[in-house]
Amino acid sequence: MSAPVVDAEYMAEIERAWRDLRALISSKNCAPIMLRLAWHDAGTYDAKTNTGGPNGSIRFRQEYSHSSNAGLKIAIDLLEPIKQKHPKITYADLYQLAGVVAVEVTGGPTIDFVPGRKDSSACPEEGRLPDATKGASHLREVFYRMGLSDKDIVALSGGHTLGRAHPERTGFDGPWTKEPLKFDNSYFVELLKGDSEGLLKLPTDKVLVEDPEFRQYVELYAKDEEAFFRDYAESHKKLSELGFTPP
Ligand code: HEM
Repeated sequence: MSAPVVDAEYMAEIERAWRDLRALISSKNCAPIMLRLAWHDAGTYDAKTNTGGPNGSIRFRQEYSHSSNAGLKIAIDLLEPIKQKHPKITYADLYQLAGVVAVEVTGGPTIDFVPGRKDSSACPEEGRLPDATKGASHLREVFYRMGLSDKDIVALSGGHTLGRAHPERTGFDGPWTKEPLKFDNSYFVELLKGDSEGLLKLPTDKVLVEDPEFRQYVELYAKDEEAFFRDYAESHKKLSELGFTPP
């Protein structure tokens, strides 16, 4: 599929969709699942073959039925009326915009959004997203494949400041923080505290404090929320633009 023409009209449509997304995400309290959708569309990127990435392919059953995407059809369906209202905007742009708006409406940093992503109907094979039961070397393998760094891994894991795990979707249960609809640095504060009643830590969250390279960023973000917001906004933008050269 070809790239959309990003002219003044496309930009105006993006602005209108932005407003609709703000309204949808705040009224439905669905920021967490929107952020997860944006991440799972983008996080399949493979830099070597330039396949996967933020291209809207997660809208197809072939991809959203991957076990790591359990539950994400809910987000896809919530966004469909916005796509129908703004048909010019590609799914790829719409899903990434939803991720940016999810962070914005929950009080997180402003993430620079550049439109122009192409839609693709080529779904990547299952198994490109990280497995929550694995360790540091697995995390590095997956994120390095995308072309991302240790700092990106830790900053982006801070996305778990939002939302929760659902036993019927992934077998994990509970939120990472006490206010799962507020985007702040509490994910890192809780990580350093260790296990606490009612809060979740996935094996892949725990490795961030066990691995010395990762840990330095956890310590920084736990004590300096501004540093977290700055690095998060930068890493999120990178994630949202994997394989995409802005027009
Ligand atoms: C939820 C794994 C990275 C954002 C989850 C869940 C798992 C998981 C198992 C629970 C899903 C459910 O049961 O509904 C991982 C692993 C990661 C990772 C292994 C590797 C580092 C990220 C990143 C972001 C992110 C990079 C965003 C920047 C979220 C959000 C939720 C979530 C917002 C909550 C969804 C909801 O409340 O419905 N993740 N994740 N995760 N993840 Fe991650």
